[in-house]
Amino acid sequence: MSADRRDVRPEALGNAAHGLAYEEPLLFERSRPGRVGYSLPALDVPAVAPEEELPASLLRADCEGLPELSEVDVVRHFTRISTWNYAVDLGLYPLGSCTMKYNPKMNEVAAALAGFARSHPLQPAALSQGLLHLFHELETHLAEISGMDRVSLQPAAGAQGELAGVMMIRAYHAHRGERRRKILVPDSAHGTNPASAGLNGYEIVSVPSGADGVLHPEAVAAVMGPEVAALMLTNPSTLGLFEEHIVRIAEIVHAGGGLVYGDGANLNALLGIARPGDLGIDVMHFNLHKTFSTPHGGGGPGAGPVGVKNLLAPYLPVPVVRRLSGSEGDGFALDYEFPHSIGRLHGNFGNVGMLVRAFAYIRSLGPDGLRRCAEMAVLNANYLLARLRGAYHVPFDRPVMHECVLSDAKLEGTGVTTLDVAKRLIDHGYHPPTVYFPLIVHGALMIEPTESESLEGLDRFVDALLAIAREAEIDPETVRSAPHSTRLSRLDETRAARKPILRWQPGPSDS
Ligand SMILES: Cc1ncc(COP(=O)(O)O)c(C=O)c1O
Repeated sequence: MSADRRDVRPEALGNAAHGLAYEEPLLFERSRPGRVGYSLPALDVPAVAPEEELPASLLRADCEGLPELSEVDVVRHFTRISTWNYAVDLGLYPLGSCTMKYNPKMNEVAAALAGFARSHPLQPAALSQGLLHLFHELETHLAEISGMDRVSLQPAAGAQGELAGVMMIRAYHAHRGERRRKILVPDSAHGTNPASAGLNGYEIVSVPSGADGVLHPEAVAAVMGPEVAALMLTNPSTLGLFEEHIVRIAEIVHAGGGLVYGDGANLNALLGIARPGDLGIDVMHFNLHKTFSTPHGGGGPGAGPVGVKNLLAPYLPVPVVRRLSGSEGDGFALDYEFPHSIGRLHGNFGNVGMLVRAFAYIRSLGPDGLRRCAEMAVLNANYLLARLRGAYHVPFDRPVMHECVLSDAKLEGTGVTTLDVAKRLIDHGYHPPTVYFPLIVHGALMIEPTESESLEGLDRFVDALLAIAREAEIDPETVRSAPHSTRLSRLDETRAARKPILRWQPGPSDS
């Protein structure tokens, strides 16, 4: 990808909103021969004999040319660069489908408690009673919030929760001696849904959503059959819409012997209001890093617990946290005696800090607080939609849940596209929303304000989007060449998009 380096001095920028305003050389450019970041005392023991030195075969010859710098050079370099990042602690982060809500600092305090943060992953259960107690309570809370019977905290991301869920569906049918090889996935689904089904060896049958954006029972009935293992349904959907026919749809799938997987990544909109387990869902995952705060983004870390109804409980991943009872005494144990389990998902307990944060979040808000989160998230998304409707096209114009999806169709005559709007938002001091997703909306702009934002904060964001729509009419080139206030100009995404996709090839050491 090509990008011009900019003269970003304040006077050149005319916009000091983005932190320190001068060009930051690379560490390689700052390097000075002989400069070091350590000072060691003179050797006061004999130097190692040549034969004790590392064998020549282990020495790398390609390490020359590394930057030579002092400690303060390095610390300042990275600290300066860190101020160029956008973060949820800096402002509204409207990345649709990602629920980039504010993370209360109290959660951080809880996760940093030494008893949690410093416990060793291989510590025996007898010495991990505090953590196991927390896991057990968190499982119970998640089951209560979602209406599921059992929860496993093992999956380390939403996608791994899906993988675990579909593995349990496969194990369930196999145990009953049924060979079902298809999974139904609506066309509005998140990409991880078909991927999880595919990874489990299923054929994916895409089910079209209706003209109103939601899935209709007739569309499911038309493809339901004895070969269908399950339907995977995201509710609210990636269009931000409540799947209002979910109960009927679940009945159709169950009547045909299939199970219903609920993608619970968007649970933020339902907290304390509706429970997937009451709507016919048999198995679901949670995205703790979205619904229950916790910083995320940039690839991790995450936590994607999976919840099941009792019919799938025998297949839960092991180990299962169990409260001791009767003659066993008090406390908690790790149970591996699940003969039908799909097995272990990873070596230890996943990203334990996320579990502690989610627990702290749930306990500090309580049932009323969680419900209020959902109400405010839905109110905020509908407020944005109401204010933006005149300037941007709304493909499915109806009340939304936690996010709204707009498109660039109204800007068509100006030559300005969704990507240009997203880039121009950076000049207004915002992280762009999710763009070109969901795939069923051409030029989608997917905005999820979350419950964290005040009315004034939402208004400032809307004003920026309205200003961009006006600018598109009178000065489209400024929008099309945005961003103008960043250290790098726009990346050449069209060229990048044309690059062939590199496929992994086994190397000599991979066989
Ligand atoms: C609807 C939906 N399903 C699944 C996922 C996958 O979750 P993860 O990114 O934690 O793997 C996401 C991620 O944002 C999502 O939005």
